[in-house]
Formats: sequence, structure tokens, C-alpha cells
Amino acid sequence: MDLLAFVRGCTFDDFLLTPQCGVVPSRNPDLINLSAAFSEHITLKRPLVSANMDTVTRAAMARVLAEEGGIGVVDRGFRAGDIAPQVAEITAVKRTHHGVISDPHSIGPHSTVGEAVRRMKDTGVGTLVVVDARGHLAGLLTERDIRFVSPTGRVNDRMTPRERLIVHVGSISFVEAERVMTEHKVKKLPLVNEDGTVLGLITARDLLHHRTHPFATRDAQGRLRVAAAVGATGDYVERAAEVLRAGADALVIDIAHGHSKVMARAIDELRAKYDGVELVAGNVATSEGARFLLDRGVNGIKVGIGPGGGCTTRLTTNFGVPQVEALVQCRTAVDGRVPLIADGGIKRDGALALALLFGGDTVMLGSALAGTEETPGDIVLKPVLMTESQKIVQVPFKVFRGMASLGAVRDRLDLEEANTQQVEALGAEGLEVSVPARGSVRSVLHDMLKHLCSSISYAGAESLDGFKDAFRKEPERFLIKLSASSRTESFQR
Ligand code: XMP
Repeated sequence: MDLLAFVRGCTFDDFLLTPQCGVVPSRNPDLINLSAAFSEHITLKRPLVSANMDTVTRAAMARVLAEEGGIGVVDRGFRAGDIAPQVAEITAVKRTHHGVISDPHSIGPHSTVGEAVRRMKDTGVGTLVVVDARGHLAGLLTERDIRFVSPTGRVNDRMTPRERLIVHVGSISFVEAERVMTEHKVKKLPLVNEDGTVLGLITARDLLHHRTHPFATRDAQGRLRVAAAVGATGDYVERAAEVLRAGADALVIDIAHGHSKVMARAIDELRAKYDGVELVAGNVATSEGARFLLDRGVNGIKVGIGPGGGCTTRLTTNFGVPQVEALVQCRTAVDGRVPLIADGGIKRDGALALALLFGGDTVMLGSALAGTEETPGDIVLKPVLMTESQKIVQVPFKVFRGMASLGAVRDRLDLEEANTQQVEALGAEGLEVSVPARGSVRSVLHDMLKHLCSSISYAGAESLDGFKDAFRKEPERFLIKLSASSRTESFQR
């Protein structure tokens, strides 16, 4: 079957999939392998990515995405040159949980209790590792040790000294650390070298997080992973340096038209400056566009021009490629050499399965997550007429807006420099809408994963990879192109 010819001009609502003989005993996402590549060197246990939009992904959203096995891309929608706020969001995610804390907050044994109190307050931690001038472990000092103690007292008089601590020499697995800490009933386990130099600290709280989030996306040190968006002009080189220093696991060079000379220059410049960095670039929607990015050595490609829920590019410019066709074009061009992120247009969970089949290794979600607790922005109450009761009730809403909407562009510009005409001259390619405020994004993600597992079951597959393999080997066994009436029967309720 010539898949590209078959899907030409088509998008998600143009297809159904033919049910096959199911083989999985359960549709439980905990039991079905949903692993997927976000980029060449970052694998996720769930194929979900939150969009780099200023009404979608900041630390709270990125944290939940990573805990649930996906990844969040923190937007660059902060004022040009104002890099600190994005850095703060990245830092907050990286500091959420650890495996081994390799740089625990410390204090010297001869410091005063007053200094220790200040240190705890500044860093927000309740336990300081006491380290002598040679870097050797001298003891541990907790908040309880210094409660009601004069600030002029000395740390070494209040700390639990090394001889009375349970300490592990060398590195240790989490399983072994948990065993040691349970056996000795301790909440903190310092790790030291043979000579006593501090190597790190393991806390019971972090171990617990590892247990409660078994699918979480973590870096080599056990911290949650997070990606950061940068642009291709302006402050992007400096922004990249700062977010990488804060621990960002990948840079996403995100511009509306990724198949462009500005993008090529940005990739070259970032590659030259930060050689080993994981670089994802986009957006493109054609085989030429995907190859253009691939040839420049990116580690992942974001696909989608105009399908987004907050996006008016196609209305205002008449350019774009229907998302299914775009995914098939890009997948055929890239042929598995780097992962693709299917970005935009997922309005119902069934479309998520299609985005993964047609080409996405992962999907990027914006409007599907809008209004949840973890999205940035305030809740606004608006009067709404309930048609059934004819009563007006106050309904909580949050704002969701395209990153190229006038509001988002205006907020990104330095208002002192930009006047209204300048802002309007930019030409908005995005919408700003109110969406009902709802609960945590966790339940939205859980529902999506359950529905994805049901799709896998209907396809007669046992895993996400198996689902994609079966479809890609014989797409004709699955694909049903819809008539106008079958589309209505399928998707209108
Ligand atoms: P969904 O459909 O999940 O799509 O809301 C999210 C994606 O939409 C893109 N995006 C925009 N596209 N103008 C555009 O042309 C905009 O203002 C805009 N804002 C977001 C972006 O790719 C995002 O990930």
C-alpha cells in the first residue's frame, strides 16, 4: 500500500481502525509496555509530552508529566533577555526528587547554630551534612538538633557525629539503600569514599518517591527529567547556556517555521557551543523539512504546522499540512533515524493512538491539558447561563492561548520598547480562549493511557511498539477512510 498517497490531505478524523483479535489479558497501563523515545538519547515509559506553551507547561506541569512517565517542555514565553524565570522553573523540577543527592547542602562543624538555621532556611532543607575542611563527613545536623538552642552554640556540639551514624562506603543501589535504611530505621544515609570524603546523601523521602512513581522519567542521578524550549533568534544562545546549567535534559528549538535558514543557523550555533546536548527542533510538516533538520544533526524532530488547538496559522496564512499526512511524510523521510514528536491537533484520546501509528514516537499536548490545576495562570469566575435550568452560575475558567496569539506575543515583548503598532504588525497566528478549570492533569493523563491501552488491545497487539509494528507492516489491514456520514457516526455525539 502506498500509505502516503492514501493519507494525502487527511487528518485524524478521516480514519477509523479495524478491530483485530485481541490478545492482551488486561488493558491496565501498568502491565502494557508503552515505552517510547522522546529524542535519540531520552526514552520515556509513556509517550506523552506537554507543550511548551505559557498556559500549559511550567514546573508544576513538567513535574507531573515526568512523574507519570512522560516529559514536559518548559516554554520560553518569558520576556526576551529575562532568562531567570525559565531557569527557576527548570531548577524546581530538577530539585523535586533525587536518587542520590550528589551535592547535599552542608555546613562546617565549627559554624554556629545561627548559621545552620540560616542555611536551612535559605535552602529549604531540614538536614545539613556536616563536612570538615578536608571534605570528610563529620556528622549530620537536623532541625530537631538545634530547636531551642542558642544561635551562638556550635554545630559540632549539636550534630549526630559520624561514629553514631549509619554510613555507607561507596555507591549503593536503591534497593540495597532501602534495605539498609529499613534495617537501621534511619531516614538519611550518607555515602562516603574510603577516605571519608562525602559522596552524597540518600533520603527516605526520595526513595519513597521512586516507589510511588515507578514509571517516572529520571536522569542518571535519579532526578526528574525536563526539557526547555529556546528560540532561534534573540537571546537563545544565552538562554540555552542558562537552562542547561540548571539541568535541562534537552533543548527544544521551537519556531513556527522550522524549515528555515534561521533554524539552520541556530542548530549550527547551539551544536558548536554545546556539543553533546540533546537537541530537538521544529516545527516542520514535510519530508523536505524533516530531512533538513535531520541533516543538521538534531536528536529529535517536532512535527506539525497548524493543527494546534490555539493556532490560527492555517486561517491567516493558508499554509500547513494536514497532520496525518505531515506525520507520514516526516516518518518516511526520517525512517527511524531520530524520533518524531507529533505536535498538535489531539482533541480526543483516539487521535493520540493515530498520531503514534502514523509517525509520532511521542505526542505533544497543549489544549488537551488546558485548564488543569497544573497549568499556569489564575482561575477566573465567569457567569454562565445553564440552558437546562435557565440559571446563571459562576463557572471557574483558565486561559489557554496560542504562543503566537497577540496576548502571548505582547507578554513576551518588553512593553517599554514595543508599542501597540509594533505588536500588531507582528500578525497574530494564535487564539486566546477561556477553558473550564478542572482537576489535576494526572487523571487526564491516566485516562489517555487507559484509552491507548484499549487501542492496543483492539489492534491485537501487546505493547505500543507491537501496535506500531503491526500497523506499519500492513496499514491496509487497519485503515478505514471515512465518508462524511461515517465521520458523523463516529465522532459526533
Ligand atoms: P494542541 O492541539 O495540543 O497543540 O493544543 C499544541 C501545539 O500548538 C502549537 N501552537 C501554535 N501554533 N500558533 C500556531 O500556529 C500559535 O499561536 C500556537 N501556539 C501553540 C504548538 O506547536 C503546540 O505544541
